[in-house]
Amino acid sequence: MGCLRRESWISFSDNYRHIHNGMYHFLRTSVRRTRERVASFRDDAALRRNKELFLLYERFAAASENGRIIGKSDAVNLYNLVKRRQPRRILEFGTGIGASTAVLALAIGEGTITSLEDSIGCLEIAKRLIPPALNAKVRYMLSPRRAFSVPQIKYVYFSGYRELPRNGGPYDFVLVDGPDAWIEDGQVVNLPNGDLIPMLPYIASGALIYVDCRKGAARMYEKYLAKYLRVAERGDGHTIFERTGERLARLEDLEVKDTRLGNVGLAL
Ligand SMILES: C[S@@+](CC[C@H](N)C(=O)[O-])C[C@H]1O[C@@H](n2cnc3c(N)ncnc32)[C@H](O)[C@@H]1O
Repeated sequence: MGCLRRESWISFSDNYRHIHNGMYHFLRTSVRRTRERVASFRDDAALRRNKELFLLYERFAAASENGRIIGKSDAVNLYNLVKRRQPRRILEFGTGIGASTAVLALAIGEGTITSLEDSIGCLEIAKRLIPPALNAKVRYMLSPRRAFSVPQIKYVYFSGYRELPRNGGPYDFVLVDGPDAWIEDGQVVNLPNGDLIPMLPYIASGALIYVDCRKGAARMYEKYLAKYLRVAERGDGHTIFERTGERLARLEDLEVKDTRLGNVGLAL
């Protein structure tokens, strides 16, 4: 009898636990979905407030290859930042199909954008989708992706572009949105984007660096490059750094603070 009671209690508590867990997951998912819907509504409203920007963004959102374009809130953020600061030389990592490039070109006044991409297919789509008046402000660079390390940061590999535009600087605004992960010898190569490191000598003091998502990369910059970059803003889907006044004429002179073996969790 006692044995039966214990079994029924166990089965009751098991059921209770399942129901409780089910409810918990249901509520959590509902809250998350509601938050996402509110955010998407808010981003949409912010984008629609600027008709020119909205129509431009829609060109890319309507393209069949739109899977990886910057989000609406990033489009608004980037546009406002560039409008306000009026940089002369923008450097973009990851042209993709050109949504962010077009937004930057719309916001920039007299300046130019140097935009790097490793996929020729993406570049062709970008050149076709970006209106000619904005295209005229863009210097496209097709550059193969690579994995690399720098001697001062031990045991860490970064992804980046093989050829970098060292001659077009100093850059006063940077967008980090590529390269993406790739497959090599059947293995996924998913590394934090590290092009900022070799480009540091060519980035002007006071320049803003907008890192789209890529939290793993942002954590690496915080950990290793604090002398040269300070966090100016941490958003839900982006981190903005500001180049400090610390001079760095040559990459060989790069000083990193924390050289311990440190995998800081590569959620890219
Ligand atoms: C996050 S995406 C860059 C998006 C870009 N900044 C934009 O707003 O359009 C990163 C990389 O994904 C790749 N990519 C983007 N769209 C792609 C597509 N439709 N097909 C294949 N690769 C794509 C490109 O190599 C690109 O550099």
